[in-house]
Amino acid sequence: MKTFLLPVLALFSAVLVFGQQTPTDFLSADFHKKRRAAVREKMPPNTVAVFFANAERNRANDVDYVYHQDPDFYYLTGYREPNAVLLLFSEVQENDTGAIYDEMLYVQERDPKAEQWNGKRLGTEGAKALLGFEMAFNGAEFSNSKTDFSAFDKVLFFDFENDYRDKRGTADLFDLIKSFKEKTNYPSDYDTTKQQLYSMINSVTDENRAEVVQTLRRYLDFNESLQEDDLLQNFVEANDNQQISDIKKKISLKLAAHNLDSSLLSEIMGSLRETKTKEELVLLKKAVEISAVGQIEVMKAMHPNMSETEIQGVHEYVYKKYGAEYEGYPSIVGGGNNGCILHYIENNKTQVGTDLVLMDLGAEYHGYTADVTRTIPANGKFSAEQKQIYDIVYDAQEAGIKASVVGAPFRAPGEAASKVVTDGLLALGIIEDAADSRTYFPHGTSHYLGLDVHDRGTYGAFKPNTVITVEPGIYIPEGSDCDEKWWGIAVRIEDDILITDEGPVNLSGMAPRTTEAIEAVMKQPSPLDDFVLPKLD
Ligand code: GLY
Ligand code: MN
Ligand code: MN
Repeated sequence: MKTFLLPVLALFSAVLVFGQQTPTDFLSADFHKKRRAAVREKMPPNTVAVFFANAERNRANDVDYVYHQDPDFYYLTGYREPNAVLLLFSEVQENDTGAIYDEMLYVQERDPKAEQWNGKRLGTEGAKALLGFEMAFNGAEFSNSKTDFSAFDKVLFFDFENDYRDKRGTADLFDLIKSFKEKTNYPSDYDTTKQQLYSMINSVTDENRAEVVQTLRRYLDFNESLQEDDLLQNFVEANDNQQISDIKKKISLKLAAHNLDSSLLSEIMGSLRETKTKEELVLLKKAVEISAVGQIEVMKAMHPNMSETEIQGVHEYVYKKYGAEYEGYPSIVGGGNNGCILHYIENNKTQVGTDLVLMDLGAEYHGYTADVTRTIPANGKFSAEQKQIYDIVYDAQEAGIKASVVGAPFRAPGEAASKVVTDGLLALGIIEDAADSRTYFPHGTSHYLGLDVHDRGTYGAFKPNTVITVEPGIYIPEGSDCDEKWWGIAVRIEDDILITDEGPVNLSGMAPRTTEAIEAVMKQPSPLDDFVLPKLD
């Protein structure tokens, strides 16, 4: 048999075993491989990057939350199971059998009993055949792996945040992290922020000392564990050069005691994930289109007797119908005053009546999430006051989208939108001083969008193939310091904008945005008009 046929046959048989009647439009193994290569290119020489799979999190008793892979881990591997670790080496390594490699993946071991309860595992064979790893091992092998972490100038990793538990197995995330800590002489008091502050002090100069002290004071003000650190406290209070030099010596010894770095990976991953490849854009666009269709279907189905949770259910049914696995974040459906709570997720008002209903939802399709908000009148017609507020937000969003161009600073859409909101609130007499605009528009206008709803990025000037949200809003809670006629009106309009060399492209634009277009769609019949369920006692 020709050797080049072997991988094809392996993939084919693996698809037969693992992939029967399941979606086939996931990111390709080649995509993940190229992304790992891109990370390697950005790693300093003689370093190793260590990525852990996301933790499984308990919901209650013996039920966990639905597992969701860590987006960086998914981006680099395509592996969707827990209890795994990925090692990327900046240079090619050779082990004692002469094998050459620059990456290793440790995965959950196959286990027929566990698979009978919780579903199939890829195992090492699946990781090789489907994900394209040559060096794939069972997690249990990580603890006796020969990788010598002390031989690297730096070991790059993400802070663990201590929110993972020891489970029953011997190669769960807890055990993998425990082995990692043993292998790297991980200091028991390791703290990412403290490390960053130590590095800052280590390179302080006479010129920037005042600035560094000011930054340190800010951190110490809100972080109690930092306040207990004598070196940081003493540096802030130091007033002579001898004292400062003594503290710097102690800090440099502390820094030299290990080669751990929990800061650099977020820069590396931010710079990669900020711009999307063609393959990613296919999935992200699909997530956004599905979410826009959800908004349209809800516009058709909405009536005053609906509950917030029912409205949420219609969106989510549309997502599932298109094969989206999850919502990218908890769905927000707030009628009237509830819309003023920015991340309102109770969604438990039983009748939306004549409310404006703010609906901020996003389908997650194969990892990529949309983030689309529409605000619509439950009875199909905006009142005069609702329309006045809505139109300001609409104009603000138009200005924000127009400012989302290649080369513009990240803050450009926010500045453009805020100006329109402030002018509009002044013109309606809702505020008398421009500085009070933040009272009614208290959040940012844009964030990156991708595998995370608030995706990683550099916050530098916009580059082509970046996707951001543009989402101005005005929220006037009951009891606000303005005419009562505005109380309980909350409007956010949020679209997902692809930045290109040819200008911004609104990926969610198919969901109506103007009051006229929304009212027109709300007049259309809905397939749900005939979906009547029996009354329960
Ligand atoms: N849905 C969360 C946000 O708009 O940022
Ligand atoms: Mn958003
Ligand atoms: Mn949103």
